[in-house]
Formats: sequence, C-alpha cells, structure tokens
Amino acid sequence: MSALSGKDILSTEQISDDELSLILSTAARYEKALTAKMRLDVMTGQILATLFFEPSTRTRLSFEAAMERLGGQVISVADPKTSSAAKGESLADSVRTVAGYADVIVIRHPQQGAAAESARASDVPVINAGDGAGQHPTQALLDIYTIQKEKGRLKGLTVSLVGDLKNGRTVHSLVHLLARFGARMHFVAPPGLEMPPQIVSALREQRVTVTESSDLAAAVRESDVLYVTRIQRERFEDPADYERLKSSYVVDMALVQRAKSGITIMHPLPRVDEIAVGVDSYEGAAYFRQAANGVPIRMALLALITGRK
Ligand code: NCD
Repeated sequence: MSALSGKDILSTEQISDDELSLILSTAARYEKALTAKMRLDVMTGQILATLFFEPSTRTRLSFEAAMERLGGQVISVADPKTSSAAKGESLADSVRTVAGYADVIVIRHPQQGAAAESARASDVPVINAGDGAGQHPTQALLDIYTIQKEKGRLKGLTVSLVGDLKNGRTVHSLVHLLARFGARMHFVAPPGLEMPPQIVSALREQRVTVTESSDLAAAVRESDVLYVTRIQRERFEDPADYERLKSSYVVDMALVQRAKSGITIMHPLPRVDEIAVGVDSYEGAAYFRQAANGVPIRMALLALITGRK
C-alpha cells in the first residue's frame, strides 16, 4: 500500500515531494502499459463515481478512461439537472450517499471549497476535479508530467503563465508544484485578472522569483514554457467585463517566432481564441499531448489512493 492510500486529493500544497515523485513514476509506468496495449486488472471490482456540477470534456472523460483502463467501473452524474441536487439536496448529503455506492469519488463544482466539504462528508477518498476558481490539482499533476516529458527535466525552468490568472484554477494549483523545482515565473494578465496577491506572496516567501507584467512578448523571449489559459467567462459577474477582456492576449505564430527557441506551449484546454489554430502545427505546441497525459496521471492517482498500487 502506498503513502497515498485512503487520501483525498484536494490541493497541490497537500501533496508531499515523495508523493509527487511516486505519482509521476507510477504514471510513467501506466503510460508504458497503455502504449503496449496491456490489459490491466488493478481496479477490478472497484467503482469510481464522477460527480460533475460544471461542464467538462477532458477531466471527466480522462478519469473515466483511466478507471476503465485499470479494469474498474464508473458511475456518473454528468448533468446535475438530472440528479437530486435539482430537488434541493445538499452537496454533503449527495456525496455521503454516493460514498455508499463507490470506492472513490471525483467531483467538480462551481463553489470554491466544495471538494473539501465533500471530503468531509465522504468515507471514501475524494478527488477535486476543480472547485470554482479554487484549485484543480490533478490538472497540475498532468501539467508537471507533461513538462517533464517535453523538456526532459523539471529543474531550473522559466515559465510564463498568461491569461485569467485570477480565476484560473489550473494555474492556482500548478504554481505550487513549479515552485518546488525552482522555476522562475512570469505572470502576464490583463488588468483585473492578475494572480491573487496571497498566492504571489506565498511564492515569494518560498524565495521563488516571480515577475508580474502585461508584456507577453518580453516574457516569452526568456521562457522555456508558455502556459496559456482561457478567460474564465463563467466567473464574471458582468458580461461586459468579459467582452472587454476576452481577447486580451492571443498567441500566434508571430509571437512564437519571437519567443525563446524551442519554447513549449501548453494550455489546459478548452481554448477559445487565445491560441491561434496556426500554432497547432508548431512542434512545441504540446496542448493536445498534454490532454492525453491526463489518462496515465489519473490512472496513477486512482490506483494509489485506493491502495491498489
Ligand atoms: C480547465 C478547468 O476546468 O479549470 N479545464 C480542464 O480541466 N482541462 C481549464 C478551463 O476550463 O479553462
């Protein structure tokens, strides 16, 4: 049984260095098994419940694919309108009920803190698949896994993060993992969508070099990785603000040509217009490979927290 057995995955700060390296090495092993088309029975007889109270394509389907690839089974609420949440049931009551049906629960919810609240209500492990503008730790794990694969290392990199850094939960999770490997970070956001100050100060307290600016071209000239995010329309109270800010930064080939040679471009997806389609054929455009890495990372997490590996 692993150190992660029985644990919830709610945030990246909660994951120890040893646990992180165990997750990455387990994922690499599962990736090899997937490539070799091996049949796995690691999770035979186990059930994953996916509860998604917000839209999802990659996160839900890659968790479900991961469970199926491990030989387990999946039950899911993909549309909250069809669950008892629509009748006014509390989140805690729903989760407590589902914990009686499944061995592990993956939840996405619009409210920050909903995954932690679910974990308190559940007696099986709960994985946070995005809690509002809070965190998205499994995305950050697959992001780190992707950086390691694309760059061949994690130490000493300069990473630019651009877009809606205020509301983007993937970056809120990712920066804590990047910090452990001594990354230098450039935060580039439109006015009003900057990285929350408490995250910036927590990083600076850990002696991470962080710069904040609005000059994307300058940032990419010295970056090994560019991590692009979508302006999070669903978090805006006033649609006019979204309209004003939505196309603040667009990564196109003209920008890529001015960037540091060999720059890796990542995006958690979905994209709206923040990366031009013309960039997709650039060899450092890693975002679809990044999405595929969600399966081995989530296989590793499911197996480790249910004590199967
Ligand atoms: C992200 C999310 O849901 O936070 N998507 C994902 O899980 N890959 C990013 C986003 O929606 O912008």
